[in-house]
Order: sequence, then C-alpha cells, then structure tokens
Amino acid sequence: MNIAVAGGTGTVGRHVVTIARGRGHRVVSLSRAEGVDLVSGSGLAEALGGVDTVIDVANTQTLNGKKSVDFFTAVTGNMLRTGTAAGVRHHVALSIVGADKASAGYYAGKLAQENLVSHSELPWTILRATQFHEFAAQMLQRSSVGPVALVPRMATQPVAAREVAEALVNAAEAGPQGRVADLGGPERKYLADLVRACARKQGQKKLVIEFTAPGPLWRAMRNGDLLPVAGSAVGRQTFSEWLNAR
Ligand SMILES: NC(=O)c1ccc[n+]([C@@H]2O[C@H](COP(=O)([O-])OP(=O)(O)OC[C@H]3O[C@@H](n4cnc5c(N)ncnc54)[C@H](OP(=O)(O)O)[C@@H]3O)[C@@H](O)[C@H]2O)c1
Repeated sequence: MNIAVAGGTGTVGRHVVTIARGRGHRVVSLSRAEGVDLVSGSGLAEALGGVDTVIDVANTQTLNGKKSVDFFTAVTGNMLRTGTAAGVRHHVALSIVGADKASAGYYAGKLAQENLVSHSELPWTILRATQFHEFAAQMLQRSSVGPVALVPRMATQPVAAREVAEALVNAAEAGPQGRVADLGGPERKYLADLVRACARKQGQKKLVIEFTAPGPLWRAMRNGDLLPVAGSAVGRQTFSEWLNAR
C-alpha cells in the first residue's frame, strides 16, 4: 500500500513511518522539514500522487483554542480536499480521548478536526488515544522555571507512542472503519508524579509543584473526565517501562 504520513517526523509520526515501512508499505512523510506545508497546502498535491491512504499525525504546540482550531481546520481541510482530488481512498486521523468532552483550548482544534474528517466524502477512520508517555517529559521541559516545575493537576493514563503508531498502521491496513475503540495506557497516574519520575531519571533536582490550573479543559483533566472509558483498548507498556528503556 502507498501511505502518506502527515507529521511523519513527529513523536508518533516517526514510529508510524518505521512500522509501515517495516511491514512493506511504500511511505512518504509530509512535514515542513521535508518540503510540504500542510497549512498553506504547498507541495501537498505532488506528495499525494499515487497515495492510497493518509495517516494524519500532524500537530501544533499551541494551547490557544482559536489557533488550534485554525491549524487543524486548515491542515485537515487541505488534506481531505487534495487527497480526494488525488484519488486517496482512506483518511486515518489520530485524535485525543475526551476530545468531545472538553472542547476548549487545544482540544477545540481536535474536535474541529474530527468533525471535518467524519463529515468528509473520503472514507475515514478516527482513533482517539490518551497522552503519550513522552508528554510528561515535554511537560517537565515546558513547566520548569529554574529548580522548580509548575505542573497542572491532571489524571492521565499514558500510552506508548509506538503502540499508538501500531494501531494507526493496523487501521490503514484494515480499511475505513469510522470511529474505532479508544486506546489508553495500562495505568492511571497523576501527571506531577510522572514529571517527578522524568526529572529523577534525568538526574535533575527539581521541585515539582502541582497547581490547580484554571479553565474548563484543565478542570476536565483534573476530574478524570478525559480518561478512557470501559471498552477502550489498553496498551501494554507502562510509563516506568518506557522510562527505564530510554
Ligand atoms: N502528544 C500526545 O500526548 C498526544 C496524545 C494523543 C493524540 N495526539 C495526537 O497525535 C498527533 C501527533 O502528535 P505528536 O505529539 O506526535 O506531534 P509532534 O511531535 O508535535 O509532531 C508534529 C508533526 O507535525 C508536523 N507539522 C507541524 N506543522 C506542520 C505544517 N504546517 N506542515 C507540515 N507538517 C507540519 C511536524 O513537522 P515540521 O515541524 O517539520 O513541519 C511534525 O512532523 C496530533 O494530532 C495530536 O493531537 C497526541
């Protein structure tokens, strides 16, 4: 199968590319570093020539709702339009568990993305996953001010990005299925504890302070509203196993 991976250089995207190539698929990765801008659409039509399936794992780092909606609307809209014109037959999108329960901040963009995909004439699959294990390491970096890290209180059930990538390639191979079962990791944790473990592993003496972040998105994260529900698929690798393997 010919597969295009939008965001193929990212945290989950690089696993998607490696796994798909390992299973014998022809893979093209789409990112700005590789000459394709998914927001403007520059280079996209050429890159999608001959592609059967798009796996969309492009991302923006913003927490701002409007910027997130603008990004995912532009990127997904461009891929669906250009993909349809190029003869793509299946669009696989990765979303986040709870995208419909807290449509604020970054999550507002994910919901906009899901709506575009699920109303598209291009046959589709949407997989929602929980936070990747890498999220805690990213949070340590972003929330650090000198020897202190300020981490919002959040319940999470983190999953291995590699296992999410496997599920996405499985979905590409299975063909369009609509919404598939959500995928979460094997254990429930608090984000601050994971950030502390990352700091210890990196040999950093860091005081990790948990605080109550304002707004509907963080309230939902705090209350566990964005955790996977019964019937979700459960990943194998625990956070500790992931951290020890780094
Ligand atoms: N991180 C998590 O914990 C998590 C959990 C569940 C679901 N997800 C979903 O998984 C997806 C991927 O997340 P990630 O954390 O793996 O992303 P990431 O590491 O931030 O990677 C983002 C990718 O998108 C590309 N990209 C960004 N802007 C682009 C543009 N204008 N044109 C072309 N490519 C662009 C980047 O390459 P360039 O910068 O070179 O363009 C990179 O390859 C997202 O949809 C996210 O919502 C993430």
